[in-house]
Amino acid sequence: MHLGGLPCNIGARITQSLCLLSFLFPGSSEAEQNPVKVKVGISKFPRGANFSNMSKYTYKDDKLVSENGSYVMMGWERPIMKKVAELMTKNGGDVLNIGFGMGIVDEYINELNPKSHTIIEPHPDVIEYINENGWKSKATILEGKWQDFIGSMGQFDSIYMDTWADHRTPYINNLLENHLKIGGIFSIWHNDIEFMTIVDGLPNNYEVSYVYMENNGLIPTKQQDMDGYYIDPSLEKITIPIIKRLR
Ligand SMILES: C[S@@+](CC[C@H](N)C(=O)[O-])C[C@H]1O[C@@H](n2cnc3c(N)ncnc32)[C@H](O)[C@@H]1O
Repeated sequence: MHLGGLPCNIGARITQSLCLLSFLFPGSSEAEQNPVKVKVGISKFPRGANFSNMSKYTYKDDKLVSENGSYVMMGWERPIMKKVAELMTKNGGDVLNIGFGMGIVDEYINELNPKSHTIIEPHPDVIEYINENGWKSKATILEGKWQDFIGSMGQFDSIYMDTWADHRTPYINNLLENHLKIGGIFSIWHNDIEFMTIVDGLPNNYEVSYVYMENNGLIPTKQQDMDGYYIDPSLEKITIPIIKRLR
């Protein structure tokens, strides 16, 4: 099956989303015209993928790898994380990063010296890495799942979320309403369908915009040992969405 010139195969997460769009709009070109599809160009494994976020994680070869060989995070994503860190620290405020992984985005956030830097992370192997690498003196570490901190942490000027195998979409409004300051921004590493669901469910006090990065060969053609790529390497641009709280 093809959509917009992209093959629908199991390994290509972005393409899976586009295939789903073609299913939602069968026999028409609406999916290709849908502006959200064009704007949201970044994709990770869909929610509920068959990865346990409590399987053993290992840091090796500039990757964070789970027990079954899936890559939780990869070093090639550094330029994207750098851009995210710049966006998250631009307003000079309190930054919350959800999902430490390899700590790449946190390294960049730290370098940019925000007013405060908080990290939420539940995985024991990642927590061990955080402790071994001195992160407790560089940021406030909240050990656990972000869903468990709703209502019991402060408010932030910027929140970034890059979680893995996390049931999250239904709780995002709760996070934003409770913990994003008015005028603050939220961004997330997502797949297309998930992001459309998030945007559809937002109350009317939020505004969505997008920041684009040129791909220029940044996205490697082979991203997984098991099943090829999950972000289409032929994408011209990589999209970082920004959800701003207006009131
Ligand atoms: C893709 S990695 C994050 C990579 C990170 N952006 C970086 O720059 O290295 C995903 C991380 O999210 C964490 N995670 C998964 N579910 C979570 C949850 N509910 N709350 C907080 N963190 C979670 C995982 O343990 C993992 O460390």
